[in-house]
Amino acid sequence: MLVVGLFGYRFLEIARQRSRSMKILVVLAASMLSLEVLVEPFGADTHRQLERKVRQHMGKTGKSLLEAAEEVLLRPSDAIVQPLGLPAMHSHEIYPQKLVTQHPMVGYLHLTVANLTHECEDMIVCSMTCIEPPKVVQTLTDFFALTSRKMHIVGPVVRLWKTTEQTMAEQSPGVASFIDGLLQMHGRQSMVYISFGTVFWSSQPEMVWTLLDVLLEKSIPFIMAQASPLCQLPEHVAQKVRTSRIGLITPWAPQQLILEHPATGWFVTHGGFNSILESVHAGVPMICWPFAADQPLNTVQLTENLDIAYELLEVRTGEPGLKPIYRTGKAPKGTLAAVREETRAVLDRAFGEDGARKRGNILKLREVSLGMWAERGAGRLAAEEMLSSIGL
Ligand SMILES: *[C@@H]1O[C@H](CO)[C@@H](O)[C@H](O)[C@H]1NC(C)=O
Repeated sequence: MLVVGLFGYRFLEIARQRSRSMKILVVLAASMLSLEVLVEPFGADTHRQLERKVRQHMGKTGKSLLEAAEEVLLRPSDAIVQPLGLPAMHSHEIYPQKLVTQHPMVGYLHLTVANLTHECEDMIVCSMTCIEPPKVVQTLTDFFALTSRKMHIVGPVVRLWKTTEQTMAEQSPGVASFIDGLLQMHGRQSMVYISFGTVFWSSQPEMVWTLLDVLLEKSIPFIMAQASPLCQLPEHVAQKVRTSRIGLITPWAPQQLILEHPATGWFVTHGGFNSILESVHAGVPMICWPFAADQPLNTVQLTENLDIAYELLEVRTGEPGLKPIYRTGKAPKGTLAAVREETRAVLDRAFGEDGARKRGNILKLREVSLGMWAERGAGRLAAEEMLSSIGL
């Protein structure tokens, strides 16, 4: 048996060459919704059609597989698309940001993920159905059932042990004393935690500094994890945050412990899947700033369907990013003034009645999430069934 991640197609190929009968499981540590972006319409032959189109383009243009895949599969346009289970949007809204580094990689990943999804046996899904559009769950389940395969929806795959102050103090003493101090001074749910994950970072960092500025102006305490190697913190920003005494910027943060901490009120996130899962499990509503991959669609699911998040629209950058947004009918202005104005408005709503409704909604999901691994919880049962299916 082989267990691979979503980008492990080469391993699957090698394993299949050695043994046709080897059972190959794929772990989906992303939203089920993300497969929609990566695999596109699900059908018996869609992956072959995708690859054929790309190979034809290679033949015509003499481009490499990587370049051709990028050009054929990543085509932001003004066309109106209707992703499964989500409201309509322009196709270019799947690319809201100009990325800091642009390697032609994504189109190729589409092809390998499409192949992998068709050629693996079962899939182990780290998500839970309550945060996915029901239509996506149904379509994927049907797609796997078509060839007698199964999706084992075992989520939430998060840390299940209880938060204690001691573990926070052990993992990150600076953050622990800072956040405990905030709780004393500012009370419960007062702090905004900011993280764009370990990779993503804005191509216009002034927009992030504007967000910090607005938080300081409103005396809202915050912790920002700036793990991305692409982030360069200017000294004047570091200085301003340090002297404020209500902000902390740290290269690493114990994210799940921060989210579980009573001082934490909101999570500014890129909308990556693990962050979403951890936020739901902790019952912390989100303010999303999506960059790429499944993040833009995840964000729409959180804001429009689940009503547990806001999306910052004025932080969009780059050519497709600044095109009109279908939902609002307007294009982002692309200025720091617009970012400032929107951030102020969103924070006012977040800390008012509107935000309280979103918090209520995510607390209900937290209850569901906590039950998933209880005695007869759906996640636990699915995991047990998966183990039985491989003879354990
Ligand atoms: C996808 O699978 C086919 C075989 O079914 C293979 O020929 C092709 O090279 C694979 N594509 C990629 C990008 O690995």
